[in-house]
Amino acid sequence: MSFVPRKALAMTEEALITCFHVSRAPVRQALKELGDEGYEYIALPERLLARKPASLGWNESAGLPLAGLTAYQVLTRLGLKAGETVLIHGGAGGVGSLGIQIAVALGAKVIATASEKNHDFLRSLGAEPVSYGEGLAARVRALRPQGVDVVADFAGGNLDATLAVLADGGRHASIADSDVEQHGGTWMWVNPVGAELQELADLVDEHGIRVEVARTFPLPQAADAFLLNMDGHTRGKIVVTVDDVA
Ligand SMILES: NC(=O)c1ccc[n+]([C@@H]2O[C@H](COP(=O)([O-])OP(=O)(O)OC[C@H]3O[C@@H](n4cnc5c(N)ncnc54)[C@H](OP(=O)(O)O)[C@@H]3O)[C@@H](O)[C@H]2O)c1
Repeated sequence: MSFVPRKALAMTEEALITCFHVSRAPVRQALKELGDEGYEYIALPERLLARKPASLGWNESAGLPLAGLTAYQVLTRLGLKAGETVLIHGGAGGVGSLGIQIAVALGAKVIATASEKNHDFLRSLGAEPVSYGEGLAARVRALRPQGVDVVADFAGGNLDATLAVLADGGRHASIADSDVEQHGGTWMWVNPVGAELQELADLVDEHGIRVEVARTFPLPQAADAFLLNMDGHTRGKIVVTVDDVA
């Protein structure tokens, strides 16, 4: 299968998508054996794989595994249920934009943070937008005076606001701030489980979840893709294409 040295990819021939993380033993071992300069073919364990959602093109599918599975695992591990309210920090990013749609698909009400230029985008995904920064907790309390049931932090640096808006018995987790562990929260890393990626792919097809692709770059311009990503304000995902397969 074609391989790009990143954490998420879509494979064109096998009609599968997969997600992996270099810190996980099988892939780390593979990288060690093959070197880390990038290569065209690699064998991966079947347990990492899932079918590509029929409703997404290849570029969108390439943007799904890492960001989508991260959001899916956080929201399902927090036990988000239909009718509950969740606050998502970082709603316009790759993880957050998928997290909003997954939470909506699970039947939750969603409040999400972004800068004002992204508020219409958040609304289009099904969330009530709020601006991050000073006064965030008060803005969330204005929308939900009794507090929120769940907080999913997909941005980092929001612990005070998280604790200030959680309802009694509320649950919270972060993928970008390990300090949550000292405050009753869960610090999470995505785990490349193919079966869960398949659940997510099915949810995508069932609920018309979309992957916002901010921009695509051909592989020779991958460095520009990294530079753009470093500004911290990407809406959705940046995708690097190997061939024109979208
Ligand atoms: N633990 C894990 O397994 C795991 C997995 C994936 C990612 N991560 C981490 O999770 C974070 C998010 O990843 P990502 O891929 O979604 O990043 P991303 O797509 O690069 O995030 C960019 C978005 O962040 C928003 N943003 C910037 N500062 C913010 C703030 N203070 N509050 C709320 N939103 C803010 C921006 O919105 P505006 O333009 O509107 O400001 C932009 O849309 C990163 O730190 C990443 O390293 C962890």
